Amino acid sequence: MPKAFQSSSRPFHHPQPQSPLHCGAVSLEELARNFGTPLYVYSADQILERLEMFTQALAGRDALVCYAVKANSALAILKLLAARGAGFDIVSGGELERVLAAAPEAADRVVFSGVGKTAAEIDRALDVGILEFNVESESELELLAARAAKRKRKARFALRVNPDVFAETHPYISTGLREHKFGIDIRRAASLYESAARNRWLEPHGISVHIGSQIRSADPFGAALERVYKLVTQLARKGILIRSIDAGGGLGIDYHAGKSDPAARVRDYAAAVDRALAGFDGQLLLEPGRFLVAQAGALVTRVLIVKQNGRKTFVITDAAMNDLIRPALYQAHHEIVPVQPRTGRARAVDVVGPVCESGDFFARDRKLPPVQPGDLVALLDAGAYGMAQSSNYNTRVRPAEVLVEGRNARLIRRRETIADLLAPEMV
Ligand code: LLP
Repeated sequence: MPKAFQSSSRPFHHPQPQSPLHCGAVSLEELARNFGTPLYVYSADQILERLEMFTQALAGRDALVCYAVKANSALAILKLLAARGAGFDIVSGGELERVLAAAPEAADRVVFSGVGKTAAEIDRALDVGILEFNVESESELELLAARAAKRKRKARFALRVNPDVFAETHPYISTGLREHKFGIDIRRAASLYESAARNRWLEPHGISVHIGSQIRSADPFGAALERVYKLVTQLARKGILIRSIDAGGGLGIDYHAGKSDPAARVRDYAAAVDRALAGFDGQLLLEPGRFLVAQAGALVTRVLIVKQNGRKTFVITDAAMNDLIRPALYQAHHEIVPVQPRTGRARAVDVVGPVCESGDFFARDRKLPPVQPGDLVALLDAGAYGMAQSSNYNTRVRPAEVLVEGRNARLIRRRETIADLLAPEMV
């Protein structure tokens, strides 16, 4: 029986008009009181619901969702997903160690992507027996063969092909054009598979593709996979059997307020994949990151100061660009909502952090209901590429993280301390 999905695309809501913002059944005011701010709060239920959307939409296929660890690499989230059968897409030896720490049993569900793998990273991945290496260049393929020979372990690989497909997204996160550093020109792939097939330490296993991130239309995914499928048939004629197609990640979400239907988006996406791969009966791998975790998370922050400079009003919060860099880096939009709304007229303000840069902002000229020092506000859709891209810039400690599961909330990462930050240094 397919499960009915929640109609709302976010777990953050006011149960009553006057009550504080909640994550599921848990009040954010209470969480801020218990764990301090800035605080990342995630809904486990929402993350699992998103995974289930993929499972249902792809029910007719042999499919494995390999969550892109880079979006949010919290061990508790990896463990949660692994327990529901997810695999993982990793891009570094560090991410591999995270998967092994959270869910060692999932090692054979790991795909290893990335344009610059080191010998040590490859060795470790060979030793733990990952599912497949997504190889991005001819020299990486040579290195993989050499390491596999040395360790006497055959390496299963996919070539990550660059399909030369344009996808509408921010230029920093678009990857599927020939001018990008990613993948191998799809026109050169067949000859590389042929020579690799002659190497006893290399096993041609799959083809992978990833055209970019925050893509909201299903069409470019379909277009890329049609090209991939052509390559599968071309290779079959040469006697090379491709067992898996990795369609990458990239499915976007709606960062703005308003109605959206994530389950319908996954169904459209799955339909485009299905059309393109109608003749393929091997395993389908997917690498969603953002779609699984972004809307499950919020960054809760306290207003420190409200100040007027000329005609502008600045709301200065205790979170800053080091905690959530997406607005500064990609001009990304995040909805900002007061945790305990006050009555009064909304007005345009800049919401900024305390870091010493004008680029340290969360929103500019944003209409917000009145807020005062001491109030809490939540930056929504911060579950992906939030904590994962945080830093200690300005010697600021990183936020704590809390996972809400049903009625319970638990700390999954304590707030850093200044002692943590100073520990690796020598004077
Ligand atoms: N697979 C590969 C090979 C990737 O490079 C990525 C993301 C994914 C999967 C997951 O993509 P997703 O489903 O999350 O779109 N920091 C940026 C996004 C960078 C994406 C990098 N690669 C942001 O905050 O928007």
